[in-house]
Amino acid sequence: SAPGFSTAVVVGTGYGAAVTALRLGEAGIPTVMLEMGKLWSDPGPDGKVFCDMLKPDRRAMWFKNRTQAPLASFLWLDLANRDIKRYPGVLDRVNYGDMSVYVGRGVGGGSLVNGAMAVTPKRSYFEEILPAVDADEMYGTYFPRANRALGVNDIDPHWFETCRSYRYARVSRKAAARAGLKTVFVPSVYDFGYMKREEAGTVPRSALASEVIYGNNHGKRSLDKSYLAAALGTGKVTIKTQHQVRGITRQADGTYVLSVHETSEDGVVVARKQLGAKYLFLGAGSLGSTELLVRARETGTLPELNDEVGRGWGTNGNVMLGRANHAWDLGGSLQSGMPALGIDAWDDPVNPVFAEVAPVPAGIETWLSLYLAITKNPERGHFTYDAASDSARLHWRASQGKPSIDAAKALFDKVNRANRTVYRSDLFGDTRSFEDRFTYHPLGGLVLGKATDSYGRVKGYRNLYVTDGSLIPGSTGVNPFVTITALAERNVERVLREDLPR
Ligand code: FDA
Repeated sequence: SAPGFSTAVVVGTGYGAAVTALRLGEAGIPTVMLEMGKLWSDPGPDGKVFCDMLKPDRRAMWFKNRTQAPLASFLWLDLANRDIKRYPGVLDRVNYGDMSVYVGRGVGGGSLVNGAMAVTPKRSYFEEILPAVDADEMYGTYFPRANRALGVNDIDPHWFETCRSYRYARVSRKAAARAGLKTVFVPSVYDFGYMKREEAGTVPRSALASEVIYGNNHGKRSLDKSYLAAALGTGKVTIKTQHQVRGITRQADGTYVLSVHETSEDGVVVARKQLGAKYLFLGAGSLGSTELLVRARETGTLPELNDEVGRGWGTNGNVMLGRANHAWDLGGSLQSGMPALGIDAWDDPVNPVFAEVAPVPAGIETWLSLYLAITKNPERGHFTYDAASDSARLHWRASQGKPSIDAAKALFDKVNRANRTVYRSDLFGDTRSFEDRFTYHPLGGLVLGKATDSYGRVKGYRNLYVTDGSLIPGSTGVNPFVTITALAERNVERVLREDLPR
């Protein structure tokens, strides 16, 4: 067989990829993971692996000249962003015209940069979005399995009431309660025991030191500490970093050949490689996996891929907004970067919203309550192939964000009325109060049951699988990584049983 042949190759190292690699490794199957980002293990000159949000440096972002933080401004001033050197940093913002998508880059994918909120979706909504998936199995077996393996934990409610770090969340809870709205604690993969010790001053601070979207140096159980560590522990899994998969072809014998660019820290291609695989699992995330298959279909290397490849993409209804607090409602200068509370208005029959109470880890009092609202936006985007740049292009029009804004506005108008407060209009670069031009939660592109069968097997091709967020049809009603993880657990179990040799 070709040089660099492996029984199984997994593209990416995010949630879907990590689950798949662990279960393949446990089954004794030699597996290579290919990740375009870095392994985040070596400290920089400051002794830290990751930089924080207050003083971002080249480690912050994936080949940018300036950071691109979600809060573009404060009092209309661009205070959050810094010029940085181009480098394979941990957070990417992929800009497609009217929509920008934040994704993690590195071993662990989105788990390196996300807010650690580990939320199991409401069963009734899960059944609505993925009706072909047996919900009894999901809620009886795979969601519990995912929660255990991810290391999900709950906040100590007594500590929450008295700590400094969540004063901002208590202020938002009070405002929600005045409007008759229900708040819920959000489970997390950030170790709340560690966070308590951070506040007590007995361990180095991370969540309490403005470390969130550019990585956490302590406390977070990112995938490199959970699934990927276990996968490597099987002795069957290896990870190649700074390896970007560019193309997929299939040989006459049914095996796949990947063309891969190995890149340096300057972004230069230092080697072009061909890697063969009998079983190929795509876990490059909604953008990454969809691009690989859209490119393969349109360049004719996998011509049997169907028209559903590239369709059914959504933002999980993301919209960000801020409210101005009264002078006496202090959020505090010390704010845990890991959210622990959400306003749960998903049962609202007209405007379902699940709004996470987001931190503003600025290190000063900002009199700001920030929220990331997840809404039920029915709009979907799609991807086409752009030959000139050899990349997939997302088609999403600005007007498609309107249902998200309408739902969030209906909810927060109520909160503002009950509290006699107003929206902040200084946060998003201009005077808008609702930011719907980016998403943290890209979902879809290779939807389960459409581009694939009901277990992620790509239609038209044997031994080719999708394992990540691209399977989910654009929305899951809560923060998505638990759903992605549990679905990957379900799918890989079936594939191991039916498709791979014992
Ligand atoms: P994921 O995107 O995690 O991983 C894909 C990996 O593949 C990446 O490492 C990428 O570099 C790599 N890759 C892509 N293309 C490749 C190629 N061609 N070759 C090789 N490698 C390639 N969710 C949640 O549930 N709770 C939360 O609190 C948050 N908060 C949050 C904050 C921020 C700032 C972000 C950006 C995101 C979140 N999320 C979140 C979302 C969550 O992180 C996201 O849904 C998952 O990481 C998606 O998991 P996937 O397995 O789909 O891919």
